[in-house]
Amino acid sequence: MRQKIVAGNWKMNLTYPAALALTDEITALLAEAPAGPAQPLVVVCPPFPFLAGVGEKLPKGGPLHLGAQNCHQKESGAFTGEVSAPMLASVGCEYVILGHSERRQHFREDDALLGQKLKTALAAGLKPIFCVGESLETREADDTFAFIAKQLKDGLFHLSNEEFAQVVVAYEPIWAIGTGKTATSAQAQEVHAFIREQVARAYTADAAASVSILYGGSANAQNARELFGQPDVDGGLIGGASLKAPDFVAIIRSF
Ligand code: G3P
Repeated sequence: MRQKIVAGNWKMNLTYPAALALTDEITALLAEAPAGPAQPLVVVCPPFPFLAGVGEKLPKGGPLHLGAQNCHQKESGAFTGEVSAPMLASVGCEYVILGHSERRQHFREDDALLGQKLKTALAAGLKPIFCVGESLETREADDTFAFIAKQLKDGLFHLSNEEFAQVVVAYEPIWAIGTGKTATSAQAQEVHAFIREQVARAYTADAAASVSILYGGSANAQNARELFGQPDVDGGLIGGASLKAPDFVAIIRSF
């Protein structure tokens, strides 16, 4: 049985007091509404300055786990302003988002750099949430599958079988991120199934059956149940809706 996961990507939002308050609100709402049979693993990914404080508030033993939104490709050194994977692990991070389209776009992160980041994150014991996704232009040119296949091949499939087993994949169509224009459940299922097929070709059928593939891109309390009901959608990577505790908990309860 694949792990169901709901991860909240808080992006560059909130102040420290607001981050602590959001953490408390999510924890309290989750405690109020006991989980159903399919309780997903929940990850919250605050901005770097809030990680230690939020991590200390997470109830021991889950269901909330700590993740980061990025890490440097080196383990340490003269990289002013950067944050390393070992630093993230030292404050309790278990996950790290890598390859988010916003980092590929605004910080020119390419597949070669992401390959280095994956290795460093894995060496520090972190589980990468590796993001892929096409632009509207690519989709309208009917090049989505070729584009996703290249991102996987060039950015992810260099990992060994053992390394890949630690990875979560997130499909985030760029045209759905922050736009309110969610992919239809059929569109999401189609690409998730394609990603799973690519994993089977690059690794094994077992690896394909085991890897969790999350959907991200305007997922919310209203559309999560239909999206998560798709056979190859194993949860969500949630942006805006993760900043509102009632909405985020409603998404968590959508399984
Ligand atoms: O990483 C998740 C994020 O890119 C999705 O953002 O606001 O469309 O849920 P949003």
